[in-house]
Amino acid sequence: MKQIAAIYPGSFDPVTNGHLDLIYRGCKLFDHLIVAIAQNPDKGGSLFSLGERMEMLRAMTAEIDNVTVDAFEGLLMNYCIEKHANAVLRGIRAVSDYEFELQMALMNRKMEPSVETVFMMPAEKYSYLSSSIVREIAVFGGPLNGLVPELVEEHLRRRVAEKRAAAVEIPTK
Ligand code: PNS
Repeated sequence: MKQIAAIYPGSFDPVTNGHLDLIYRGCKLFDHLIVAIAQNPDKGGSLFSLGERMEMLRAMTAEIDNVTVDAFEGLLMNYCIEKHANAVLRGIRAVSDYEFELQMALMNRKMEPSVETVFMMPAEKYSYLSSSIVREIAVFGGPLNGLVPELVEEHLRRRVAEKRAAAVEIPTK
């Protein structure tokens, strides 16, 4: 039977419980799932370095046999070809996500018709959750329990304190 390898791409700055929910769902559907952190120059400054984002994702997925964590630069479709992946996994939380996700999926399909985009919904309790909202809550010292794993919360609290001590503006958007 054909093996399905999927790429779950994203910025993961930082990984949230919503991302993890999707990873748990995806690893049941696909033979192999590569969580791929994009080094996206358009996204401006990220709160965490690529190495830190990778470390957090690896720690949170270490127990799952068919999940690996990697990073990529440039076009997602080139990365899919390089990894012999036949699918891209993306999460859709609300109708507002759909337009952008549809545009990306169709453009990716135009570039590489052999790769299918598969949309999955995270649990409803994560439907309002995003990395940017988590960063904003962290900046203002709000509660993060239930939104990110404890390890990620520790990293967030530490990073916010470091930035504050250095009087550096913290990216929330
Ligand atoms: O977590 P995000 O920021 O929603 O992820 C967006 C991401 C990384 C999946 C998207 O920006 C992407 O695929 N970037 C790689 C560059 C690329 O292939 N762009 C063309 C998309 S049609």
